[in-house]
Amino acid sequence: MKQYTSLLVECNAGIGVITLSRPKALNALNYEMLKELDDLLDRLAQDETVKVVVITGSGNKAFVAGADITEMQKLSALDGRKWGKFGQAVFNKLENLPQPVIAAVNGFALGGGCELAMACDIRIASETARFGQPEVTLGITPGFAGTQRLPRLIGKGRAKELLFTGDIIDAQEAYRLGLVNKVTIPEELISTARALAEKIMSRAEVAVKLCKAAVNEGLDMDSESSIAYEAEVFGLCFATLDQKEGMTAFIEKRKAAFVGR
Ligand code: CAA
Repeated sequence: MKQYTSLLVECNAGIGVITLSRPKALNALNYEMLKELDDLLDRLAQDETVKVVVITGSGNKAFVAGADITEMQKLSALDGRKWGKFGQAVFNKLENLPQPVIAAVNGFALGGGCELAMACDIRIASETARFGQPEVTLGITPGFAGTQRLPRLIGKGRAKELLFTGDIIDAQEAYRLGLVNKVTIPEELISTARALAEKIMSRAEVAVKLCKAAVNEGLDMDSESSIAYEAEVFGLCFATLDQKEGMTAFIEKRKAAFVGR
C-alpha cells in the first residue's frame, strides 16, 4: 500500500485499518490529509482484497478534532466554499465506498471529525470519545455535511440542539441519541471493530455490498423508487453463487461456505 504523510494504512486478512495521524493537531483535517484520504479511498474502492475498512485516530485523545482551524482562519468566502465542497466530495466517496466502513472513535470527534464518523456506515465509540459540531463557536456552520447527516442520524430536533449550541457530548449520550452503535472500554475499541468486521466478512459479500447500496441510494429517493431499487438489488442476488450456497446450506442444515461472488 502507498505511503502517506498523515494516514497510516494497514491491510490484514481482509480488514483495512486507516489511522488518521496528525498527533500535534489532534488529527485535525488539513488539506493534505483530506487529499490523501481522497487518494486512498480511490485505491481501496479498487482493492478486492480489502473487504471491510476501519477508520480510527492516532493516539488516545482524538479521533479527529475537526477541520484544521489554522488553515481555515484566513479563507475567503470563495475558498471557504471550495474547501467545503472538497470535504463533502471526499466524505461522499467514503460513504459510498463499496466496502462497509466502521469508525472506531477513540477520542474527540468534533466538527469535521464528527462529520467524518457520520460518513462511515457504523460507529463504535470508546468511553473516552466526545462528539459535537462546535462550528457556531467559531462563527461558521458545519461544512462537511454535518447539517445534513446529523439530523438524518438522530432526528431534526436533537440535531438542531447540538448544531445551535455547539455542545460536546460524551460517548454514552451519543449512544443514547443513536449517533453511535456501541460503546466500549478504550482497550477494546479496535478489537470490537475488528470482531464486527469479521462478522460482516463471514456473510455473503455481494449481498452486504448491495444492502449498503440499497440503503444509501434508497434514502435519497422517493419511497416508490427506493422500493423498486430494492427489488432490483434483491433480484441481482439470485445471480450470485452465494445465494445458491446460502439457501442450499440452510436446507441441508449446514453452515454456508460463501465465496464472495
Ligand atoms: N485545528 C487545528 N488545530 C487544532 C484543532 C483544529 N480543529 N484542534 C486542536 N488543535 C491543536 C491545538 O491548537 C493545539 O495545538 P498547539 O499544541 O500547537 O497549541 C493541539 O491541537 C492540542 O489541542 P489543545 O491544546 O486545544 O487540547 P485540549 O485538550 O486543551 O482541547 C479540544 C482539546 C477540546 C479538542 C480543543 O483542541 C478544541 O476545541 N479543538 C477545536 C475543535 C473544533 O472546534 N473543531 C471544529 C473545527 S471547524 C470544522 O470542522 C468545520 C467543518 O465542518 C469542516
